[in-house]
Amino acid sequence: MAHLVGGISSAGRAMPPLDGIPLTIARSQGPFLWDAQGNRYIDYLLGMGADFLGHAPPAVLEAVTQALLNGPMPGLAHALEEQAAAALAARLGPLDRIVFLNSGSEAVHLASRTARIVTGRPRIAKFAAGFDGWLDDVAFGNTGSPAAAMEANARPATDRTVLLRYNDFEDAERLFAEHDDIAGILVEPVLANAGCIAEAPGYLAHLQRLARRHGALVIADEVLMGFRLHAGLTSTLAGLEPDLATLGKAIGSGLPVAALAGRPEIMALFEQGRIARAGTYSGNPPACAAVLATMRALSALDYPALLARGERLRAGITAALRQAGHPACTSGHGSVFSLWFADTPPADYAAAIRLADANRSLALHLALRRHGVMTLRSPFGRMFLSAAHTDAEVEATIAAFTASAPALHNPATA
Ligand SMILES: Cc1ncc(COP(=O)(O)O)c(C=O)c1O
Repeated sequence: MAHLVGGISSAGRAMPPLDGIPLTIARSQGPFLWDAQGNRYIDYLLGMGADFLGHAPPAVLEAVTQALLNGPMPGLAHALEEQAAAALAARLGPLDRIVFLNSGSEAVHLASRTARIVTGRPRIAKFAAGFDGWLDDVAFGNTGSPAAAMEANARPATDRTVLLRYNDFEDAERLFAEHDDIAGILVEPVLANAGCIAEAPGYLAHLQRLARRHGALVIADEVLMGFRLHAGLTSTLAGLEPDLATLGKAIGSGLPVAALAGRPEIMALFEQGRIARAGTYSGNPPACAAVLATMRALSALDYPALLARGERLRAGITAALRQAGHPACTSGHGSVFSLWFADTPPADYAAAIRLADANRSLALHLALRRHGVMTLRSPFGRMFLSAAHTDAEVEATIAAFTASAPALHNPATA
């Protein structure tokens, strides 16, 4: 561990050691992870949401293997690229022009650049406590940062980014009244990284109306939520009609691939050379093979059954903790949700901060690990459910929560 900074390449994925032993994963398959000591975990991190079909889905692996064998890096146009774009576009309604990238952060970066060029304006608006990637423009006001709290009368901003308060109708109006330089607004259909805070009824439509009235583009950041509730954008379920959408995670089943999708008249600017894009690895064959195979698999996926299984899991977890004397509830959806030690979930980030209990969340994480279940340690963390989780894993997970609950009475001893 001496050479790899912090023991892992992305700080958000660092896990605490258990009994002095650092967590090192040896392999993953379906709903399971195995660590270097051979312990098996039912996994609810799922590659931070990328493994929506479960770990290492055979059909995707087969397609990716074939693409690798054909040569992973031709560096020139190849047939899988258009096929993958067509398969993705078929599920995105009017956003039927695609640029492939390698990570969600890149997709948000390109979406922001596109909005700036379309409007000639410099600033991107994003939700305080939202996470839209780790690149400079948007790595500002993330969950846990002082800016995200947005003290009364404060409007944290940089030259290129400005924050707004999720679910605050008036704050959205003030934002556009105060700033006439907003190129686009990054909209997450669920404020997922702040603990799956649900949209207040009508809030996103309100935001879209304001953006349209003030000439700003609506960018649906669906890197996390895309394809998780149905085979398409989650924001369309909330009645949104975004100009651009960013996708990642679930579209590639664990391969590093992301996409910017947009309306043809906007995306034509790329072909006219007015918006720059690049990337040695963008649209590489294994990534495109993964998207294509994933889209095929999602066409056959029984989403209602998956979501219903997730609802049973949510209810079972809540009941297990309540039975042990802990207040408990969840926010989100069957395929991605957050757990709160409270009777009702937070309606906004200010409430989420009040409810966040880092000690209890860490105690639960460690106790669950002892009982073979992998979750995030953060109080704002999410649990993802994959298509590979069956009722048996759900039942075993609820039992693990029951067995872990006593550790929460005295978090320090977990
Ligand atoms: C909503 C959202 N946008 C963007 C990103 C950045 O994606 P990536 O980690 O692939 O760069 C994430 C990652 O978690 C995300 O949740």
